[in-house]
Amino acid sequence: MEEKRILCIGLVCLDIISVVDVYPAEDTDTRCLSQRWQRGGNASNSCTVLSLLGAPCAFMGSLAPGHAADFVLADLRCYAVELTHLVLHPESSFPTSIVISSATRGTRTILHTNRNLPDVTAQDFEQVDLTQYKWIHWEGRNAAEQVKMIQRVEEYNRTCPAHQRVSTSVEVEKPREELYQLFGYGDVVFVSKDVAKDFGFHSAPEAVKGLHSRVRPGATVICAWAEAGADALGPDGELVHSDAFSPETIVDTLGAGDTFNAAVLLALSRGQRLQEALTFGCQVAGRKCGVHGYDGIV
Ligand code: FRU
Repeated sequence: MEEKRILCIGLVCLDIISVVDVYPAEDTDTRCLSQRWQRGGNASNSCTVLSLLGAPCAFMGSLAPGHAADFVLADLRCYAVELTHLVLHPESSFPTSIVISSATRGTRTILHTNRNLPDVTAQDFEQVDLTQYKWIHWEGRNAAEQVKMIQRVEEYNRTCPAHQRVSTSVEVEKPREELYQLFGYGDVVFVSKDVAKDFGFHSAPEAVKGLHSRVRPGATVICAWAEAGADALGPDGELVHSDAFSPETIVDTLGAGDTFNAAVLLALSRGQRLQEALTFGCQVAGRKCGVHGYDGIV
């Protein structure tokens, strides 16, 4: 039987990336090492990685017309990402990011603009045929609507046999109060270092232990912490850790977190244990930091 797909819901945008040696000082005129357009957005980046890792996947998100949208659409097709759940907003502008990526420092500074593109709603999500997917991942954005979408999946799961259930995960990446309601939903909750710090935690193990009471019983909480690797606390209270697999030279960290999420959820969706999934996530994210873009990760 064909492997069911993984659906990622969230942002697709255009990243205009300038690679520099050192981050420029304000009011200077310098040359960058290279410049490129790249499809961005957490959920869309995770789809790229899933595809490269050989997993059939789909993207659900909003789109506004224009050249940038044409570019990202062509690119999504290039990576064989299924696009049946795009929601078009003809009156909106397409979101873009200016990214300054400094290879020597391993930093990526993002200036994002999204003026008026609405996120997908629970009503849009009603159109999704849940039988097509084995896993649905939400990049935390319009949390209240996303809660309703997850509840729909939970209801569906109650009506079908175990092997047909759809697993769910959420990513809480931005330190925004509105997103914190998402902790209570999903089989897997990805928490960023920024969010962990916002809660006053100083490390990934501290964060997953401290946030475990906020996730629903039986859920897993995962936190990646750059060169310190990643930690996770599973349903039975088991704490697991993976070191980072830093490449010899870091060239591009943009989307490293999205890469980690994709690799972890793919491993879990294929029945691997939490420890294996976490290690795999760190390995693939490490490989990503050693290449520009994503194509060199496999
Ligand atoms: C990386 C990323 C970029 C995008 C930005 C949006 O994680 O998704 O591709 O420009 O974050 O916040």
